[in-house]
Amino acid sequence: MLQKTQPQIRRNARQVMDGLDLLRELGTRCASAVFLDPQYRQGLDALDYGNEGERQSGRAELPQMNDAQIAAFIVEIQRVLRSSAHLFLWVDKYALVSASWQRWMPEIGPLSPLDAFIWDKERIGMGRRSRSRFEAMIVIQKGPRRAEGIWKNRSLPDVVRAKANRTRHPHAKPIPFLQSLIECVTEPGDIVVDPCAGGYGVLDACKASSRTFIGCDLI
Ligand SMILES: C[S@@+](CC[C@H](N)C(=O)[O-])C[C@H]1O[C@@H](n2cnc3c(N)ncnc32)[C@H](O)[C@@H]1O
Repeated sequence: MLQKTQPQIRRNARQVMDGLDLLRELGTRCASAVFLDPQYRQGLDALDYGNEGERQSGRAELPQMNDAQIAAFIVEIQRVLRSSAHLFLWVDKYALVSASWQRWMPEIGPLSPLDAFIWDKERIGMGRRSRSRFEAMIVIQKGPRRAEGIWKNRSLPDVVRAKANRTRHPHAKPIPFLQSLIECVTEPGDIVVDPCAGGYGVLDACKASSRTFIGCDLI
């Protein structure tokens, strides 16, 4: 009988694999923080920007995820997070206003959305009404909910203004901000997971802060 081959999970390295397979290989409660920046396009479809021209081709070619796939990721993230550890979930404007990100959350379980950051990209994007300049990050904690002794930097403002290096990836995020969050909720050596790593900004933030990165991307 054919044996299922176990993927070899590497630390502090880029690797090409499905993020859900990676999460399923990780031990329960091994991660001190998880970043999830899913590639979904419901917003673009719903708002019908018609922006699939040349300028957006890099984005349109990225592997897309639907609600069910993202929800399956979050079920596994809930399992791999340690008690009181955080999931940092990036959402775009449409996911925020339509609350579609709430459909990704497990109906039962210890995850609680508690806080949010707004990232001012210092760059004007598209929009049929206002022009889009921000992305949001929902801060979700696995129970038991605690800030004392877990959230170490209370002076982090919830609005961040920074340019990202988009030559790394069309959806790259600002690495100093990622590093601040990592240092806020984890200790040196702790495991930080990013199963849809894109340009691997979280890997670089982990290197800069001596945390252990585990992550991948489909491409
Ligand atoms: C929004 S981007 C992430 C950008 C990243 N946060 C950065 O700073 O560069 C989403 C990424 O998810 C990847 N992706 C889509 N489906 C995936 C899957 N099933 N497993 C792993 N990665 C996936 C896409 O290839 C894309 O690079």
